[in-house]
Amino acid sequence: MKWSAVTAGVIGLAGSALAQLDTSPFVDADTGITFQSYTSTDGITYRLALPAEATGDAAYDVILQVVVPVELGWAGWAWGGAMTYNPLTINFGLTNYSGYYVPGPYEDAKYTVLKGTSVNETHFKFTALCTGCASWTDFDGNPYILNGAGDTNFAYAYSATPVEEPANPETGFSIHDTVGRWIHDLGNARSDKFKEWVTTNTPA
Ligand SMILES: *[C@@H]1O[C@H](CO)[C@@H](O)[C@H](O)[C@H]1NC(C)=O
Ligand SMILES: *[C@@H]1O[C@H](CO)[C@@H](O)[C@H](O)[C@H]1NC(C)=O
Repeated sequence: MKWSAVTAGVIGLAGSALAQLDTSPFVDADTGITFQSYTSTDGITYRLALPAEATGDAAYDVILQVVVPVELGWAGWAWGGAMTYNPLTINFGLTNYSGYYVPGPYEDAKYTVLKGTSVNETHFKFTALCTGCASWTDFDGNPYILNGAGDTNFAYAYSATPVEEPANPETGFSIHDTVGRWIHDLGNARSDKFKEWVTTNTPA
């Protein structure tokens, strides 16, 4: 099963009115980074930190952190609130604790893995600097930048079934189990410590 099936599930949820924010501040002990953090009812956590100057006017980098129960096959994060035409981060679960992959279906998104990436008996934790996660080219070919001063709809999907071929970024998904969405506070994810956080958490 490929992107189309995930898309259908998420689009069905799109279009509801903006409600209250679903994120709150979280200080990560491993990195010292203060994120705006959302944990789904399924126990997957999605965190973001932005540079202080982030707005909708110019592209900017973000630091993202995802914490996923190891029993999950994969978890995805859709940056435009739906699974098509915008960047998507996938973290493959580590049923055997052997490694992780972040395939890039969107060629323009680049990840630099930071400290704060690890796995233990219960959770996989992934932390990365991402260039190109918060901006993309939309369906009509127009550049789109998430307004870093506001809030935004994100969507997630995950599966308890591992991907068919983890080493291949183009691999099909087995069965997508669950999709959902949340409203992330980007304005309060901004910090003038952003550059310092990147520097101190970039592995030598
Ligand atoms: C873990 O999964 C990888 C990728 O599928 C495989 O190559 C490796 O042999 C597995 N390791 C164990 C201990 O099962
Ligand atoms: C395993 O990792 C998760 C995520 O980082 C953390 O919340 C949890 O406390 C860790 N468990 C143990 C036993 O260290």
